[in-house]
This record gives sequence, C-alpha cells and structure tokens, in this order.
Amino acid sequence: MMQSASLYIKDHIRTVPDWPQAGIQFRDITPLLQDPTVFRTLIDVFLARYADAKLDSVAGLDARGFILGSVIAYELNVGFIPIRKKGKLPFTTVSEEYELEYGSATVELHTDACKPGDRVLLIDDLIATGGTMMAGKKLLERLGATIIEAAVIVDLPELGGSRLIESTGLPLFKVCDFA
Ligand code: PRP
Ligand code: ADE
Repeated sequence: MMQSASLYIKDHIRTVPDWPQAGIQFRDITPLLQDPTVFRTLIDVFLARYADAKLDSVAGLDARGFILGSVIAYELNVGFIPIRKKGKLPFTTVSEEYELEYGSATVELHTDACKPGDRVLLIDDLIATGGTMMAGKKLLERLGATIIEAAVIVDLPELGGSRLIESTGLPLFKVCDFA
C-alpha cells in the first residue's frame, strides 16, 4: 500500500470526542464513505491486497464490516458472510460473547456460512481491544474455516487489539492507525 493512500484515507476519518461515552475518542469513518474518491481509494487498497489470495469468501463484522466486506466480496467475485450481533440471524447459529471498549456483546454466525477449509478474509472498520475481531475469528474457526488474514481500516494500537490478534498467529492488515 502506498503511504500516501494511507494518509489520504486517515485524513478523512473524523474524531468525535466523548462518544458514545465520556473519555472515548470515536473514530468515525462516515466522511470517508461519503466521498466517492476516498472510498474507491480504500476499496482499491483491499482489492490489490487480496486479488490473488484465492478467497472463498469475505466475512464482515456487524455493522461497519458489512459496508467494506460486501463491496470487496462483490469485486473479487466471492461470497459474503455476515457475522451479526446477537438475535439477528434466523437459521442455526454459533455464538461468542466478548468485551468492548464500552461494554459487552455477542456475535453470531450461521452454521452453514462456510465449509471446513474455506479460505476466508475477516474484515471490520476498526480494531480497538480486539474483542470483536477475536470473537469473529473464533466463530469462523468453529466452522473449520482457514482465515487468511484479518483486515481493518483503523488500528487503535494503545488498546492492544492488534497485538492480541497477531499473538494468535493471525496476520492483521491495517490501513492506518491512531496512536
Ligand atoms: C466498533 C467497531 C468494531 C469494534 C471494535 O463496533 O466497528 O466492530 O467496535 O472494538 P473492539 O476491538 O474493542 O472489539 P461497535 O461494537 O461499536 O458496533 P457497531 O459496528 O454496531 O457500531
Ligand atoms: N470501537 C471501539 N472503540 C472505538 C473507537 N474509539 N472509535 C470507533 N469505533 C470504536
């Protein structure tokens, strides 16, 4: 990835102080999504990286991972798998509970979302504590998937999530960070 693309993308992420609660600096990607040139630059970074990855599918984490993951899956001509917050998926599911920077949550995956050995890219907009990404990783692994990489737009390295993911042996690709 070109350093200039990373800086250009980072420059279109807005920081909202004290949201959703006091002390949180919320990194808001909506200005990036709103600008078609920046959004295309971002998607093209992911497409270049995964064009030859021989993916079977892209798994996106609820909710902003859906925005990125579905576009990437469409362009790479592979399937998209939604990993959803609890209670949204209608068929049989596996589920994992996890802790967030501001609370706890549960994510779920349909049991037929992928087959053992499928090559899956796991994507979200941001990694903070890594709780969400770890839960998604565990769900896909419970179905026997091979996760080729985890990917985000933003890493918040001080919250330790990227280190946690990498300590499991799963590579993590991040477009930019807020240190
Ligand atoms: C945000 C973000 C990631 C997660 C990262 O989503 O989009 O999914 O937090 O935090 P973590 O690394 O500490 O787990 P959020 O849970 O706010 O939900 P949303 O996408 O539904 O807004
Ligand atoms: N998810 C967890 N922490 C976050 C933050 N600081 N900004 C945006 N999304 C987040």
